[in-house]
Amino acid sequence: MGPEALKKVLSQLPAPKKRKEVLVGLDIIDDAGVYQINEEQALVQTIDFFTPIVDDGVDFGRIAAANALSDLYAMGAQPLTALNVVAFPSQKIPLEILSDILRGGQEKVEEAGAVIIGGHTIDDEEPKYGLAATGVVHPHRIIKKNGAQPGDILVMTKPIGAGILTTGMKGDLVGQEEIRNAVEVMATLNHAGSKILNFDVVNAMTDVTGFGLLGHLWEMLGDSQTAAKLKIKPDLFIEGSEKLAKDGVAPGGTLRNLKFLERNVKWGKTPRHIKFLLCDAMTSGGLLAAVKPESLDKVKKELESNEDVPAVLVIGEIISGEPGIKIN
Ligand code: CO
Ligand code: CO
Repeated sequence: MGPEALKKVLSQLPAPKKRKEVLVGLDIIDDAGVYQINEEQALVQTIDFFTPIVDDGVDFGRIAAANALSDLYAMGAQPLTALNVVAFPSQKIPLEILSDILRGGQEKVEEAGAVIIGGHTIDDEEPKYGLAATGVVHPHRIIKKNGAQPGDILVMTKPIGAGILTTGMKGDLVGQEEIRNAVEVMATLNHAGSKILNFDVVNAMTDVTGFGLLGHLWEMLGDSQTAAKLKIKPDLFIEGSEKLAKDGVAPGGTLRNLKFLERNVKWGKTPRHIKFLLCDAMTSGGLLAAVKPESLDKVKKELESNEDVPAVLVIGEIISGEPGIKIN
């Protein structure tokens, strides 16, 4: 669901019961919930599932699992266990496809050093897949969205535009090589990035998914009571996505995000197709971190020399002021 609709629903609920063990819960919107179990350990829990965005079952499984685990990495947690969440039309689609999806998911969970210990399946018209995932973090090393400080440098670990590309794929507007590249960007775990962008070097972090880069940045700024100044360069966009955006290709979620953000951003001379890309509802995007300025050089060097980090993109800085985004 879009951020506006979700806010409306949640505001109707009674305030959750206060429990001292709940370090991050419903009253603080973050990537995952955190529950302290002892002095040294807190459980970090998240769930994410969606309908297929690519044709190949294994790829869909890999992307869905990498996406679900991403919220754990965004909190600075190490994944431990996962449960498969499955909806599948078993009378309409061969069961081998479901095996493929689950195989792809398992591959990614194991790559993360975690293990699948169960799951739940239902029959449904449209396939859906994802994970309920649990990780662990030291209670003093949780990375939240609300700590960004003026002077922090905004760093991202994957390019954006996959929502626009997968929409283009459905209309046969994308070449094989561009599809392969976009799939690999989405299927890459945020594992390596999160080891480098750890509690010691970042003040706030999240991951870029359905609300788009600007939507997730907007959440971070609102929670941190700061603003941001961005400098957009073409290497921010996945190969092929800029051309599609120029041709007006964008999923519904991207348009919803742009509508929600339009008034909160000082766009400068930003062309319309770049606005689409910056708000693109992306699956399994990279980490978006507010890096402490004194740690930037070290962090950049480590990210750049790690081949499991898809990109190292310095997109701007946190400035003081009312929450807002300025682009030039
Ligand atoms: Co997230
Ligand atoms: Co999520």
